[in-house]
Amino acid sequence: MHISVVGLGYVGLVTSAGLARWGHTVEGVETSPERLHALLSDKIPFHEPDLPELVAAGRESGRLLFSGSNLEPAQRADIVITAVGTHDGNGGWQTNTMRACLSEIVPHMRDEAVLVVRSTLPPEFILELPELVTALRREAGRGPIPVLTNPEFTREGSAVHDFLHPERLIIGIAHDPDGSGLRRAQEAYADVTAPTLVMSAIDAAFAKLGSNLFLATKISFANELALLCDAYGADVSNAVLGMGYDDRIGPKFLKSGIGFGGSCLPHQVTMTVAEARRDGLEVPLLGAVDTVNHRQRTRFVETIESLLGSGLSGRRIALLGLTFKPNTDDLRDAPALTIAKLLIARGAIVQAYDPMPAARLRAQGIVPNLQAMPNVLDAVRGADLVALMTEWAEFGSLDWAAVRDLVAQPIVLDGRGFLDPTTVETAGFAYTGIGRRSRGSVGVTLTPGPAAIAVGSTPSVTFEMDDAVQVIS
Ligand code: UGA
Repeated sequence: MHISVVGLGYVGLVTSAGLARWGHTVEGVETSPERLHALLSDKIPFHEPDLPELVAAGRESGRLLFSGSNLEPAQRADIVITAVGTHDGNGGWQTNTMRACLSEIVPHMRDEAVLVVRSTLPPEFILELPELVTALRREAGRGPIPVLTNPEFTREGSAVHDFLHPERLIIGIAHDPDGSGLRRAQEAYADVTAPTLVMSAIDAAFAKLGSNLFLATKISFANELALLCDAYGADVSNAVLGMGYDDRIGPKFLKSGIGFGGSCLPHQVTMTVAEARRDGLEVPLLGAVDTVNHRQRTRFVETIESLLGSGLSGRRIALLGLTFKPNTDDLRDAPALTIAKLLIARGAIVQAYDPMPAARLRAQGIVPNLQAMPNVLDAVRGADLVALMTEWAEFGSLDWAAVRDLVAQPIVLDGRGFLDPTTVETAGFAYTGIGRRSRGSVGVTLTPGPAAIAVGSTPSVTFEMDDAVQVIS
């Protein structure tokens, strides 16, 4: 098939290269001259594992082409997929880019072609979409075309894998009276073995939005649970482990810490709350998800203050990680940046290291007075406290004895529940995690698992909190 993908950001570029891998001819359209120039020079404008190889393979095969103009690719395509940005950068939606892109493309699409909207959009825009497209066609003297949506569920850092091996494919029908649009979309995704769910476009929009809102809710729930665990002397990582064995709950997205960041979860929570309130709807749960998420950042700074005792003025803090999650160079709404700003505002000297050089550079532009260091050892030198912000693999295998030799005070605050407390403590550090302040203070009794349980004679094993949870099966 001949497919045009409009917008070559995280979503569009992965979609283009993935469809080319599946044998389609894909023309990716990018209107930013800098980004287009980078792509034409075989440079990927952001860090995404496996994407450079996938793009290179597509280019070599001749099936992945890049263009700066919407027009010709739209005229040639069997399917036009739009993947343009829909955030205004200030916590709100913006649909101007999408509207402009549709006005430019839709009148020129072939009568047999299908429009597939992949960007995440506000519900009201999805409801308006069929009429908007039909009107553009009518004004151009053209007949109607099928209009579908195809929300994406790819995560930064594993987007290539998520695209090529999705857990589900969702096709939303905005306008497709004879089913020809759906047939073409299925042809484009013929290599996907996951279930395909076909539903109305508005239901598909809520499947996407609902997924992200639920993931955000899980994280804020875990963060509130961590607060309770701190107060009552429990270790949240053990509590969550125990919860996760229940199929109805599952173990994922229950990691407490400095909260969620990025371009998706935070914005989609705040935008949904704002739109709902504007429309007179009460959404207290989602409002609380946002409140808890932001509280994590301020609480983290307060924890640093309480660990250091006498104010932050002149204290040297090492931040390990700046990006909102590992395996990306994305700093959008990264909790580490908010925390760095708060620390600097309170007089601290912040020395930060992130494995992504581009992220280090940009972070210095976003956070005045941030000292971005070229490696971990420079970041921890003279530090009164070392704070883990992003769970990069590099930090999981740090030589803590070498770090101990460089710091002014051996204090570690783990903002992601990522470090092995015993390793850190063995090197001579005092370890504190979010919801894990009880470490070492309480003994608990573990009852062996089902295989060993006999009613009335249940044996038990006593162990200290320092030990990992024992799973006996
Ligand atoms: C998210 C969704 O996970 C994707 O399914 C979706 O396609 C994407 O948004 C989108 O709408 O485009 P992403 O923003 O790449 O993906 O990142 P996530 O992996 O969801 O992580 C978001 C944040 O939550 C990160 O800051 C991460 O550190 C944090 N997080 C995640 C936690 O604090 N705790 C957890 O247990 C898991």
